Amino acid sequence: MAPATSATRPLAPRCARPRSGAGRGRTAAIYRGPVGSRPGPSDPLGIYAAGFYEDQSDGSLRSARVVAPSLIELVGPRSVLDVGCGVGTWLRAFVDSGVTDVVGLDGHHVEESLLQIDPALFRPTDLSRPFDLGRRFHLVLCLEVAEHLDAGAAETLVRSLAGHGDVIAFSAAVPFQGGTHHVNEQWPAYWIERFEAHGYACLDVLRPMLWNRPEVEWWYAQNLLLFVAEDELADPRWATAQALPTFGKIAAVHPRLHEVRHEPPPATVGPAPGARSGRPLLRRLLDDLGRARQRVVRRGSSPPAS
Ligand SMILES: C[S@@+](CC[C@H](N)C(=O)[O-])C[C@H]1O[C@@H](n2cnc3c(N)ncnc32)[C@H](O)[C@@H]1O
Repeated sequence: MAPATSATRPLAPRCARPRSGAGRGRTAAIYRGPVGSRPGPSDPLGIYAAGFYEDQSDGSLRSARVVAPSLIELVGPRSVLDVGCGVGTWLRAFVDSGVTDVVGLDGHHVEESLLQIDPALFRPTDLSRPFDLGRRFHLVLCLEVAEHLDAGAAETLVRSLAGHGDVIAFSAAVPFQGGTHHVNEQWPAYWIERFEAHGYACLDVLRPMLWNRPEVEWWYAQNLLLFVAEDELADPRWATAQALPTFGKIAAVHPRLHEVRHEPPPATVGPAPGARSGRPLLRRLLDDLGRARQRVVRRGSSPPAS
């Protein structure tokens, strides 16, 4: 890994909240409400406050440090645009790997003090509206963002992404994945159809690479697709990528999501049901509450931070 350059700032530890460990999903990362966010056009409800990024940025950066080198090998980008970059974790990983021409877009609500890239490389943008930076990039990222925009903005987003590069790494939550303000969870076919309408083919070669990598958050392993402009794909440099194992664009749910949604209730590791001492009434009430909450999370009303 190349040393950090002037495009990055020293990486302050952002692990204020304990996590249940890589691979156990996001139940420990539930963000329960806005803390000091500034509602604005891209965050009218004040959803994406500092706490949201404290919960997700460690895992995001850890994943990016695994995936960025693979994308660099496959695509060879000299410039990267990250659409919905959050606090810039993925760009940070690219910069650390030597790609310094990077730009990140996210809402006006992202606090400069949290950015993990030079703030000059960050452009506050409302992604539910068309955007045009007046240039193209060798690689465009849009990761776990599309599900946060109303369905009415899906086509606008895909068109804006297509306007900025021939190669797009895209991931978006699947139905019932759950997450903060997930308002348009869709199976891959929904996005593939939209990118194909803009002349992009889906190379589904990233998910097989990442599926069993515990350092990579399961939502990237499950959802990350590579889209390449069809005329670009004819270039021989894409032959290797096209020969890689593929998931064939299937709708897939990662085992770690399945585990998160079906964690056994605490009673199964406590005293045997019916034992004389039994579970105290309060414990049983808390267990019942926990199960009810999991059902609500599955319906997306009180979701994990993503
Ligand atoms: C789950 S985070 C993903 C961040 C980053 N891509 C990553 O993978 O770490 C979703 C991001 O979408 C951004 N977002 C949601 N709606 C937006 C909008 N209308 N305009 C700009 N950004 C938006 C949020 O601010 C948040 O940073």
